[in-house]
Amino acid sequence: MLLTGPCDKGEKMLKMWYSFLLCLLSLQLEANPGLKVRITQKGLDYGRRIGVELLKQAILKETFPSWSGQESFSFVKVNYKISGLRINAVDFPETSASFIPGTGISLSVARASATISADWRMKAWLLRDQGGITVSLSGLFMAVVFEVSRDSTGHLSMLLHNCQLIINSVKVKLNGGSSWIYNFLSGYLEKPIQTKLDENLCLNIKYKIQMMDAQLRKLKVLSQIDAFAQIDCSLVSSPAVFKSHINLDLKGTVYPVGNHTDPPFMPAPFTLPSQGDSMLYLGVSNYFLKSASLAYYRAGIFNITISLSQELATSFNLTTGIFNDFVPQIAVYYITAHPVLLKLMATSPPVVSLQADGCSLQITGCVDVFAVLPNSTIQYIFTGNLTASTRVNLTVIKEKLIISLLLKRLQFSLLHSIASFSEQVSLVENFLFYALRSVAIPVINDKLGKGFPLPNLAHTVLIRPVIKVNQGHLVISTDVHYKQK
Ligand SMILES: *[C@@H]1O[C@H](CO)[C@@H](O)[C@H](O)[C@H]1NC(C)=O
Ligand SMILES: *[C@@H]1O[C@H](CO)[C@@H](O)[C@H](O)[C@H]1NC(C)=O
Ligand SMILES: *[C@@H]1O[C@H](CO)[C@@H](O)[C@H](O)[C@H]1NC(C)=O
Ligand SMILES: *[C@@H]1O[C@H](CO)[C@@H](O)[C@H](O)[C@H]1NC(C)=O
Ligand SMILES: *[C@@H]1O[C@H](CO)[C@@H](O)[C@H](O)[C@H]1NC(C)=O
Ligand SMILES: *[C@@H]1O[C@H](CO)[C@@H](O)[C@H](O)[C@H]1NC(C)=O
Repeated sequence: MLLTGPCDKGEKMLKMWYSFLLCLLSLQLEANPGLKVRITQKGLDYGRRIGVELLKQAILKETFPSWSGQESFSFVKVNYKISGLRINAVDFPETSASFIPGTGISLSVARASATISADWRMKAWLLRDQGGITVSLSGLFMAVVFEVSRDSTGHLSMLLHNCQLIINSVKVKLNGGSSWIYNFLSGYLEKPIQTKLDENLCLNIKYKIQMMDAQLRKLKVLSQIDAFAQIDCSLVSSPAVFKSHINLDLKGTVYPVGNHTDPPFMPAPFTLPSQGDSMLYLGVSNYFLKSASLAYYRAGIFNITISLSQELATSFNLTTGIFNDFVPQIAVYYITAHPVLLKLMATSPPVVSLQADGCSLQITGCVDVFAVLPNSTIQYIFTGNLTASTRVNLTVIKEKLIISLLLKRLQFSLLHSIASFSEQVSLVENFLFYALRSVAIPVINDKLGKGFPLPNLAHTVLIRPVIKVNQGHLVISTDVHYKQK
């Protein structure tokens, strides 16, 4: 039972490191990944520093159950009870964490010490006594290596690979009680406490790692982005551990909500930069953006109806009156002005392109233009094809990748109309450019506004994330900062 303390220590410590790795998968087929996550030694060191701090705080707050037992001293049976156990002080002067290539992560603690106190009470034959006990552990050295892998369902899995423990000194001091008991017991207790710690600490850590592994396997690999889309962040291959970093390859497919049919295209291989001094690198492939474009297209976010005047009211009212200015052939049909309705539809998934000079999205579709008559029926005016070229503005805000579109160019071609107006097509194109820029694009941006959750852990914020767009993928390099609740 004395073991609860130190073992719990092990658990919390591992939990921190484990969170550091695994919350990275909170957002989630042997194939090329759509998303890549890299944690560097700098990231691991930061996780260790935070982990040790949290561990200390947790250990000092920990409470332990009482326990009782029976021991025989020569011919005398002694019943004892230990209660009120608490850890009064703990020190981890030397800790380190490193990557073990091909295997996983090694955590070690050297020269750690702890002071534990408790109340004891004993009963033997005609004798009863009670007092306090102080156990000082020092020169504790522990090295734990755990292996990381991928299970058959794409979850991260962890396994205790190796655990070593050395405790150089256990000192027991009894306070209170009569002196013979004091002398008798304190010497007697040191050896069994040390033996129990030696025997059980690593076993306990193994057990905790099994529990964490079970939890990991329960994590959802599919997470909701917004009302329209979900993202699959399962691992596509085992984590690759190198001397200076660990790489996690995630599927990174965006689906429309409720339909997880894979898109009809595959991710292309890409690599993360080998240089840089950030804690975390996130690689986002063209495949990820393409699947997102397809998902949002299927969810219908590029189908937009622009109705009535108010949205454009600051500069002009969207009524048939506008045709007086540039399409008199149509204006003649509307002596009195009626509100105009624009129905914009994407006719194919918008095409994403990632180039070194930035990201762009080309939306191809058509527009139907109607007049709204006083009895609310709508009357067809004209139809045309549209190609909208937009620049994609990528920003990271609050651990989300926010995508917003800026309309750069619009091409319009007339398909059909109640009155022919080929001369004025470019004027209509200008008008539509304005209508798209001021209404349709903001509506799309609003729908995309929740952003894509970036792999990240609870209570941390990304510090100075930098986005670099390359041909075929983009890389976000960032440090993280832990914010205590
Ligand atoms: C899911 O999407 C695919 C591709 O668009 C389509 O063929 C399939 O019918 C959809 N399934 C459901 C259940 O809607
Ligand atoms: C978008 O609008 C077109 C034309 O009205 C329609 O055929 C298509 O199903 C719509 N797409 C979605 C996803 O609602
Ligand atoms: C739009 O219509 C409203 C009400 O019909 C009118 O008050 C306003 O002046 C119009 N705005 C423009 C720019 O014509
Ligand atoms: C609405 O008004 C138009 C023109 O005045 C007319 O042609 C049409 O039949 C009307 N529709 C209904 C449903 O009343
Ligand atoms: C209009 O767009 C449709 C669908 O994208 C295409 O099939 C058609 O050829 C286009 N027509 C013109 C005149 O550009
Ligand atoms: C890009 O998006 C961010 C956040 O949505 C915004 O603050 C910024 O002004 C945008 N940049 C451009 C060039 O529009």
